[in-house]
Amino acid sequence: MEYSEAERMVRAALSKKRYAHTCNVKEAAVKLAQRYGADPEKAALAALLHDAVKERPKAELLQILRGNAIIAGNAAESPAPVWHGPCAAIMAKTQWGVDDPEVLDAIRYHTTGRAGMTKMDKILYLADMISAERDYPEVGELRALAGENLDAAVLQAVRYNIRWMEECGKTIDPLSREALEDLERSAQAQKNTEV
Ligand SMILES: [Fe+2]
Ligand SMILES: [Fe+2]
Repeated sequence: MEYSEAERMVRAALSKKRYAHTCNVKEAAVKLAQRYGADPEKAALAALLHDAVKERPKAELLQILRGNAIIAGNAAESPAPVWHGPCAAIMAKTQWGVDDPEVLDAIRYHTTGRAGMTKMDKILYLADMISAERDYPEVGELRALAGENLDAAVLQAVRYNIRWMEECGKTIDPLSREALEDLERSAQAQKNTEV
């Protein structure tokens, strides 16, 4: 699928508000890609598709996961709010003609993160949290950090997310805890090399 066609599809699939969010995420992702030496076109495509199935009914998302068990792995066991990531990756691969694993993985893990996040995973995860319409109290601090250090910003973003989910009593996907542990380990290793 051509980029412009994907854009039309996403615009038609989403509410105005979520499409505006998608455009803001795309803008943030492209900036981060330029800043940190990743491919801006891949970042734009991953951002465009990241929430493309978020407004579909849960039953339909579950059906997509069950119907594509090999790609989905155990994603159906994750909390329902994260299903739209793996489902969008499945649709991108099987229906929308995207075969770049960097793009597909970034879409898949944009809500949870994972251990061993790639640069593109980090860019989309962060772009989703600092997009222009976000207005939670720590967003200014996170935007500033995102301009300075990608790894430090993603670590902070995962921390915020987990803390927020704990405060709301939401179920935390094990992938998010694995992402946090892995990013903390890397940050510590980085510190040790600097001493
Ligand atoms: Fe999302
Ligand atoms: Fe999003």
